[in-house]
Amino acid sequence: MSGCPFLGSSSGYTFRNLSVEDSEGQTRSGVNKASKGGLVYESYLHLEKILNAQELQSEIKGNKIHDEHLFIITHQAYELWFKQILWELDSVREIFQNGHVRDERNMLKVVARMQRVAAILKLLVQQFAVLETMTPLDFNDFRDYLIPASGFQSLQFRLLENKIGVLQDMRVPYSRRHYRDSFNGQENEMLLRSEREKTLLQLVEAWLERTPGLEPQGFNFWGKFEKNVIQGLEEEFLKIQAKEESEEKEEQMAEFQKHKEVLLSLFDEKRHEHLLSKGDRRLSYRALQGALMIYFYREEPRFQVPFQLLTFLMDVDMLISKWRYNHVCLVHRMLGSKAGTGGSSGYHYLRSTMSDRYKVFVDLFNLSTYLVPRSWIPKMNPSIHKFLYTAEYCDSSYFSSDDSD
Ligand code: HEM
Repeated sequence: MSGCPFLGSSSGYTFRNLSVEDSEGQTRSGVNKASKGGLVYESYLHLEKILNAQELQSEIKGNKIHDEHLFIITHQAYELWFKQILWELDSVREIFQNGHVRDERNMLKVVARMQRVAAILKLLVQQFAVLETMTPLDFNDFRDYLIPASGFQSLQFRLLENKIGVLQDMRVPYSRRHYRDSFNGQENEMLLRSEREKTLLQLVEAWLERTPGLEPQGFNFWGKFEKNVIQGLEEEFLKIQAKEESEEKEEQMAEFQKHKEVLLSLFDEKRHEHLLSKGDRRLSYRALQGALMIYFYREEPRFQVPFQLLTFLMDVDMLISKWRYNHVCLVHRMLGSKAGTGGSSGYHYLRSTMSDRYKVFVDLFNLSTYLVPRSWIPKMNPSIHKFLYTAEYCDSSYFSSDDSD
């Protein structure tokens, strides 16, 4: 066998010698730094606390039930991930709140963190599958030991809902009690504070209201868009009207009238305010316009990252709905229609939390109703086009960003 061509034959090493001896040598070499004291894996991660935090109530009561261990571990894993989601959410809210988002370089950070939240939620939606390996009978063996503990008392879940922007008026009443009644002292105060702080929804709303191009004295997107929609509808009407009388034409005309009504309702600000007061819409009129503008012009360099943000916000909303759905299916399977350990009607209560009442970015989903043919979208004039091509602040990465952390 010839020597390694890169080392040259003079090295005396064969390829075989090099790979085996060298890699074995490398494997064995190194210093065990832990033996010199300092931080080690276990203490860094506080494993002593975490791994000793599984106290089986069934065991304490003298009737150890195997599956209670899985039940505890699953809930703890969920709570740890809730903690990470809150960590990301708080940082994103801070970036918005401090106005750092005006420097567009920070938008990438916001988007990356919301993408992470979505990735965690995806995992959490899947994670129910592990608990589903427990049979209802196995659960029944230890369930009574848990009373009156319940997921309803999960502080982090409620914080998460509040910080994203679940409306308090839209919550489904739980045994005719306020959700905060399940929490005492400091926890109750934390929840109250989270209700008063700016929610992610409100912060995103304020940001959308500033979408460049909305200014009536400037590009005037909304004014132009309304004009184009009216003109587009008129052309569609004439096209259908020119057809020969037939059943098909009648159907098309009826369809057109419905479509027209829906599209024109978008420009009815009073109707928007009414829907807002009912909780059916959540974003201000101007923010809605900003969101639609980002949808339409998402390919413009300046709108690409904002468009990604809107997409991740919808992902987060959708994944929380999926979490609720998977949870309620699990509860149905485990309890049938029995009441929950926390005192609610169980499955029936949870099923009622799955409506749009709990969706925060519901407007972003509904915007798809108002998508129109590309030719109806107002064309940009060179000045707005140039404006959307360049960032608001100095773009150079050599300048330090006014960062959040
Ligand atoms: C065998 C598995 C489970 C059963 C039978 C179950 C049952 C229930 C029931 C009946 C409720 C309604 C409140 C009550 O009356 O107690 C509830 C709420 C809740 N559970 Fe679970 N649960 C299970 C697993 C989980 C897991 C793994 C989590 C993860 C953290 C969780 C988190 C929650 C939360 C956050 C609520 C409040 C939901 C809301 O009010 O919208 N549950 N659960």
